[in-house]
Amino acid sequence: MAKMWAGRFKKEIDEKVNDFNSSIAFDYVMYEHDIQGSIAHATMLGKQGIIEQQQADEIIQGLEQILKDIQNGALEFDSTAEDIHMFVEAELTARLGAAGKRLHTARSRNDQVALDIRMYLKDETIAIRDMVKELIEVICELASQHTQTVMPGYTHLQRAQPVTFAHHIMAYAQMLLRDMGRLEDTYKRMNYLPLGNGALASTTYPIDRVLVSELLGFTAPTQNSLDGVSDRDFCMELANAIAIIMVHLSRLSEEIIMWCSWEFKFVELDDAYATGSSIMPQKKNPDIAELVRGKTSRAIGNLTTLLTMMKGLPLAYNKDMQEDKEAIFDSVKTAKLCIGTFIPMLKTMRVQKERMRTAAAKGFINATDCADYLVKKGLPFRDAYKITGGLVAYCIDQNKTLETLTIAEYQEANKLFDTDIFDAISLDTCVKGRNVLGGPAPEMVELQIAQVQSQLHNA
Ligand code: ARG
Repeated sequence: MAKMWAGRFKKEIDEKVNDFNSSIAFDYVMYEHDIQGSIAHATMLGKQGIIEQQQADEIIQGLEQILKDIQNGALEFDSTAEDIHMFVEAELTARLGAAGKRLHTARSRNDQVALDIRMYLKDETIAIRDMVKELIEVICELASQHTQTVMPGYTHLQRAQPVTFAHHIMAYAQMLLRDMGRLEDTYKRMNYLPLGNGALASTTYPIDRVLVSELLGFTAPTQNSLDGVSDRDFCMELANAIAIIMVHLSRLSEEIIMWCSWEFKFVELDDAYATGSSIMPQKKNPDIAELVRGKTSRAIGNLTTLLTMMKGLPLAYNKDMQEDKEAIFDSVKTAKLCIGTFIPMLKTMRVQKERMRTAAAKGFINATDCADYLVKKGLPFRDAYKITGGLVAYCIDQNKTLETLTIAEYQEANKLFDTDIFDAISLDTCVKGRNVLGGPAPEMVELQIAQVQSQLHNA
């Protein structure tokens, strides 16, 4: 494709350099936003009398037709074009002649690309936010079926204190709720119009940036032309929000992978969301969860790419910034792919309540409650802690649990123990007793679920 900037040059660009320089292979995805941006620009140019109204109308119609032709497959992208912006403009000029050549008045590719990528990412930010919302809804539904499902809570992956499956899974709903907030914040700061910043120092034409901003649904035009064309913080912020979402999903994935193992067997994935082994007939593998965990590294890598790409750049535009797209587009694609697969996997996952309860019954997860029992009878916590530790050691030695000790054995350890100790250390009592705000008691988790659901309802 002939270069728009050919005037300054005596030779054609080397073919390899052309390929090296070109971004159409990945920035073509912004075609719709590029065209919408150009339509708004042409509308403004006509309205301001910068070009004739009739030419503006011709340009707008031409752009609308190009959009239709791309959408219905009549027009294919030219892989030798430098980028999507050049492609659309060249196509317009080929179709309209003189009028097409006027579209780029009072505009540079630098403010054009800064616009297109914001418009593209605004839509993707909303799409990802909506997917995260759906995921939280699925978690709430799952949790509401398991407010009584006792399971061990862990620290250091050692059984620690009893919680419920609802409480455990709702922790992820809370993380994802903050993720939604991060996406919304990112959107707010992304929503400023850079068009009109020109290459770096705006323009001498009497443009109306407020009009373009309103036509394209931005909050307002950016306030400094150098900044508007040359920062990519909105890409970094979105990549960051996505990386955190992925880290959250990766932790849940890791848990699901463990829970699927024979050692845990806390959950079972639906056959449609698991895979087999080519050699071991007994295998049912949690590949989706593993892939989500694996793909999280891409999201983290993309964030690192963007931060590193920007850190040494002087103002204003530098071609390095063309590298923003593959990184942020990959983050967007990865997040959508992973959340979209995670939702049905979670929806169809079966929870093995009995296995969870059996695990909770072993491992002395009621030892804290045993010590608290003595505290409630008047002992200082440190003494109670020591006595209970002695009982646990005794149980391990005798192959017993705190539930199976006799009252005589308890009283040997301390006279304050009475028969009500058995009720005090029952798993259900231990869970129900933790009925403070944020605790695992069923009524508290029900409250938590209701609060999250109402937040989602208003979101
Ligand atoms: N494809 C370019 C990019 O993505 C568009 C901007 C080109 N600007 C320039 N001055 N060469 O960054």
